[in-house]
Amino acid sequence: MDFQGKVVVITGACGGIGKETARLFAKQGAKLALIDLNQSALEAVASELELVDYLAIGADVTDENQVMNYVKATKAKYGKIDIFFNNAGTVGKLARMTEMTTEDFDKVVNVNLKGVFYGLKHVLKVMQEQKSGSIVNTSSGLGMHGGIGLGAYSATKHGIIGLTKTAALESAGFGVRVNVICPSAVYTPMVNVIEAFRSPESTEKARENSEQRIPLKRYATPEEIAELVLFLSSDKASFITGSEYKIDGGLRA
Ligand SMILES: NC(=O)c1ccc[n+]([C@@H]2O[C@H](COP(=O)([O-])OP(=O)(O)OC[C@H]3O[C@@H](n4cnc5c(N)ncnc54)[C@H](O)[C@@H]3O)[C@@H](O)[C@H]2O)c1
Repeated sequence: MDFQGKVVVITGACGGIGKETARLFAKQGAKLALIDLNQSALEAVASELELVDYLAIGADVTDENQVMNYVKATKAKYGKIDIFFNNAGTVGKLARMTEMTTEDFDKVVNVNLKGVFYGLKHVLKVMQEQKSGSIVNTSSGLGMHGGIGLGAYSATKHGIIGLTKTAALESAGFGVRVNVICPSAVYTPMVNVIEAFRSPESTEKARENSEQRIPLKRYATPEEIAELVLFLSSDKASFITGSEYKIDGGLRA
């Protein structure tokens, strides 16, 4: 896959999946706009990936003005957005529904659902105007089923699939594709939170149990998720839009 000269915006670029996706896109010649909460963490990622031509923009995806700002800054520097990996997310504070506070519920909704919506809203305007583009949103296996303690997370990840399908229908006439990935557990810091909730006395035991339930007997690596994102973003996926992709080692087969 050749991404030479393509402009790629990635949110959650400091996280496990975002950083690995940035690495693969950069290797294929893309120009990157990296978005995450902390500016100095973004600069550290850019330096680790040895990026030369890039943008690093500290932005909170829950704030529509900050989303508009990263879209505007990318357009100003590169004149277009070819690919958008709408990926920033949080698992939040895990709690059974009877114990979950409204505040904790809202935090997850704001990042995972509103953040993804704001990104779609403002990047789609650019892509629809240029009459080209490809978007990959990040849902989760928990966007297709429930999980104890994960009510807010699961609800928002289901919601991202709805946003994806609607955006795909609204954008097809403009030559813009929109898809969503649904990974099961990936080796990133996010899974540690879930393991600690499931087995506070031994996260190792929780990991072992979870891995045993997966037919391939392990979690995914961030690179395996990134490979799917690159494929869906590329011209090789030119007839794929409005689709959700499970990537789960056979867990839900
Ligand atoms: N790790 C997994 O097992 C797994 C499984 C399925 C789906 N996912 C999803 O993959 C995506 C990436 O997660 P990850 O595994 O790389 O986790 P991660 O925690 O390593 O990365 C998430 C990144 O999002 C950023 N972020 C959080 N809130 C933000 C905000 N308000 N504004 C801007 N950036 C914000 C964080 O700073 C972090 O860098 C998330 O949407 C997550 O829900 C992860």
